[in-house]
Amino acid sequence: MNNQIFATTNFASNILDWYDENRRSLPWRALPGDVVDPYHVWLSEIMLQQTTVATVAPYFKKFLGLWPCVEDLALAPLDDVLAAWAGLGYYARARNLHKCAQTVCQDFGGKFPSAETDLLKLPGVGAYTAAAIASIAFDNRAVVVDGNIERIITRYFRIQEALPKSRSQIRDRADQLTPDTRSGDYAQAMMDIGSTVCKPKAPLCEDCPVSTGCDAQKEGDQLVYPKKAPKKKKPEKHANILWIENHSGQVLMRRRDEKGLLGGMMEFPSTDWTEAPATETEITELLIELGFKENLPLKTGAPTIKHTFTHFHLFLTPYQHNLEREERLVSNSLIWVDQEKLDAIALPTLMVKVVKSVKSRQGALPL
Ligand code: ADE
Repeated sequence: MNNQIFATTNFASNILDWYDENRRSLPWRALPGDVVDPYHVWLSEIMLQQTTVATVAPYFKKFLGLWPCVEDLALAPLDDVLAAWAGLGYYARARNLHKCAQTVCQDFGGKFPSAETDLLKLPGVGAYTAAAIASIAFDNRAVVVDGNIERIITRYFRIQEALPKSRSQIRDRADQLTPDTRSGDYAQAMMDIGSTVCKPKAPLCEDCPVSTGCDAQKEGDQLVYPKKAPKKKKPEKHANILWIENHSGQVLMRRRDEKGLLGGMMEFPSTDWTEAPATETEITELLIELGFKENLPLKTGAPTIKHTFTHFHLFLTPYQHNLEREERLVSNSLIWVDQEKLDAIALPTLMVKVVKSVKSRQGALPL
C-alpha cells in the first residue's frame, strides 16, 4: 500500500491499539476510564519541558503533595515553589508555573481552559504544551509534536529536509496522521513509542505498530533521521565568582535580577560573564561594589566550574576570602547565608557546582 494511503487509514488505529496494550504507567497519567485532571497534565507537561520522565516523576509527586490543586499552588509563596523546583533547572519555568497557576485562578475561576488558543495565552505555555494539554486533558483534537514525535514522523516519511527548517513539513505530516477521536491517547502513544520503540540510536522496529508503512525502516536508514542542520559551536564565557565567608562562617550571596538568565535566583557574586577572563580591575570593581576593600586578598585553588547554557558555555573560577571582622552589607540585595542552609534554598545547578568546587578545596592549603 502506498504510504500516503496507509498514513491516513491505518496509522492512528495501529498506534492506538499499541497504546491499549503497552501504555506506560506514569504518575501524571490517568488510568483508562478515569477522569483526567488538567492540573496534573499541565504540571507534568511544564516539568517535562527539557527534562526526562525519570527526573520529573519524583518532582511531580512532591509538588502534588505540597500543592494538591491549582489554587494551592497559586497561593504558595514563590520562594517555596522555587525551592521545590531546585534541581529541575530553567528556573523561568518555575516562575511561569507559579504565574500561570495565579492566572488560571484569577482569570479562569481555577479551571484550565480547554481551547488551544486560550491555553497558548497562559504564562509558560507554548505551542507544544498547549497542544499537549488540549489533547491529553480535554481530548480536543490537537497536533502534538515534540522531539520524539519529530523522530517518528521524519523516519516514517524519510523527510530529507533538516531541522529546524523541516518543522513545518513535520507538522503538516503530523496533522495528516492525527485522529479526530482519542486525540489525547494518540499523543501519549506517540510519546511512548518515541521513547521506548522508535529510539534515537537503537530503534526496535520489530515492536513498532507502524513499521510496515515506515519508509526509513524499508530503506534501513532509520538512524539518519531526523536530519539536523550542523550545530553552531557555542561561544565560551568566563568570570570569577567570589566565595566570601564572614567571621561566623556564613557565605555572601545576592539575588540576581528578575530579568534574564537565572532570573531572581540566588548567586554568589561574580564578575560579568564575558568572552575574556576577568581582569584585576574588574575584580577590584566587584569588591568595591560589594563594599569591600579593593585589596582584599583572594585565595585561588578551587577548581574552575564549567556549565553549559542553551547558548554558551560558562567557566567560573572561584576566588575565596574569610573575613576576620564583622562587615556591614552595603546593599539590600546582599545577604549572609548559613552554609548549612544552602541545601534548603533554591540554588540553581550552576551555584550548586560552585559550592561543590569550594567544598572540594576545604581544608586544602591556599596556593
Ligand atoms: N513527555 C512529555 N509529555 C509527556 C507525557 N505526557 N507522557 C510521556 N512523556 C512525555
